[in-house]
Amino acid sequence: MPPSVDIRRALAEDAPALTALMHASAAYRGAYAAILDGYAVTPAQIGRDLLYVALKDGQPLGFYSLVHATCEPELDLMFVSDTAQGCGVGALLFQHMQESARSLGIGRVKIVSHPPAEAFYLRMGAQRIGSILPAGRVTWARPLLSLPVEPGQSQQ
Ligand SMILES: CC(C)(COP(=O)(O)OP(=O)(O)OC[C@H]1O[C@@H](n2cnc3c(N)ncnc32)[C@H](O)[C@@H]1OP(=O)(O)O)[C@@H](O)C(=O)NCCC(=O)NCCS
Repeated sequence: MPPSVDIRRALAEDAPALTALMHASAAYRGAYAAILDGYAVTPAQIGRDLLYVALKDGQPLGFYSLVHATCEPELDLMFVSDTAQGCGVGALLFQHMQESARSLGIGRVKIVSHPPAEAFYLRMGAQRIGSILPAGRVTWARPLLSLPVEPGQSQQ
């Protein structure tokens, strides 16, 4: 049963809390830590991209970022805090992202998955279409997926 959470557009002042949530993720410890090294969610990013945050009692449980102003719209970030994982928050955020894409007339969303998260995206309806080869500080291959977004009545 999904928890009762509020999902709202991120505000510039959410940037430090979202950055902290991301860096606290156990999924990015060890060798995977390199990809987040020095990376922060910025107010500029929040103003530019579609960044939505899930909150319970005012505390962020997770967030996503959809880069939409491009010919290849992409799910840039998708994080649920370690303590909130496995309770349906990721699915709620993903469905919200899908609806956001639909309301913008986006037909497909590109997803470069963190390897341990691939099964989540497949469960959400994304399709595996390839791999991104290791490059620079990212020394591991990453699953490349594509989410088809059916046109339809937007709920937003
Ligand atoms: C991936 C992530 C966003 C999923 O969020 P979540 O809140 O734990 O997912 P949910 O509880 O909503 O799960 C939804 C469904 O996906 C499944 N699922 C979630 N994570 C899974 C995983 N790693 N492997 C297999 N299935 C998974 C759940 O079992 C559930 O299936 P069900 O509908 O049959 O019950 C979360 O685990 C996370 O933030 N991971 C660390 C950061 C990360 O890797 N982000 C992706 C960056 S590309």
